[in-house]
Amino acid sequence: MFITLEGPEGSGKSSQIGLLAEFLRQQGYSVVVTREPGGTPIGDQIRHVLHDVANTAMSFPAELLLYSASRAQLVNELIRPSLAAGKVVLCDRYADSTLAYQGYGRKLNLTDLQSITQFATGGLKPDLTLLLDIDVERGLARRRDGGEEMNRLDLEVVSFHQRVRDGYHQLVLEDPDRWVIVNADQPVTAVQANLQTIVLEHLQKRHHVNSQSSAD
Ligand code: TMP
Repeated sequence: MFITLEGPEGSGKSSQIGLLAEFLRQQGYSVVVTREPGGTPIGDQIRHVLHDVANTAMSFPAELLLYSASRAQLVNELIRPSLAAGKVVLCDRYADSTLAYQGYGRKLNLTDLQSITQFATGGLKPDLTLLLDIDVERGLARRRDGGEEMNRLDLEVVSFHQRVRDGYHQLVLEDPDRWVIVNADQPVTAVQANLQTIVLEHLQKRHHVNSQSSAD
């Protein structure tokens, strides 16, 4: 099962994904945790180029293609083989980040983005996507106060991040069965408890469907 976490800056995805993986392993699942951009040696090199605050000259199309290149490598090197081995893959950001940031944020053409993403991923879509939702100003403040390293996109104006958040909500409306929105403006333990309930329910439902179809 392929599960992705999405959200605006400061939504706490990275700490939540680690806790969620630990919980699922305790439940007996074999879990692979990864992130975008990055997750592979080649992807990590691309991540460095993408996030370097010195790269102010990067064009929007180049940015899009670098995120997509990192994704193509991750899908082929790690995600598809892990899914084929029956593992649960938890990915911190995936193609929806491209639609939210490069599409709604940068205002690149969404149809172009969809075909590039289709090419990069071979059409691999998540089974479940969790949107860790938080008010933009709250999220940016959390990130600053948390002393986290600022990347090139963190330095964008607030209106950019607002378009990203609104973009996520639009994506949820377009594919409501795949998404679950979780309020990320709560204590870490409360957010984690919600995530655990949602994910466990999906895994059990899927197990039930699979065992039904093999019994048929
Ligand atoms: P993060 O690892 O701290 O979430 O940082 C990733 C940054 O990259 C974040 O600002 C969102 C951005 N991003 C995109 O703009 N497009 C993408 O396709 C992905 C995966 C990330």
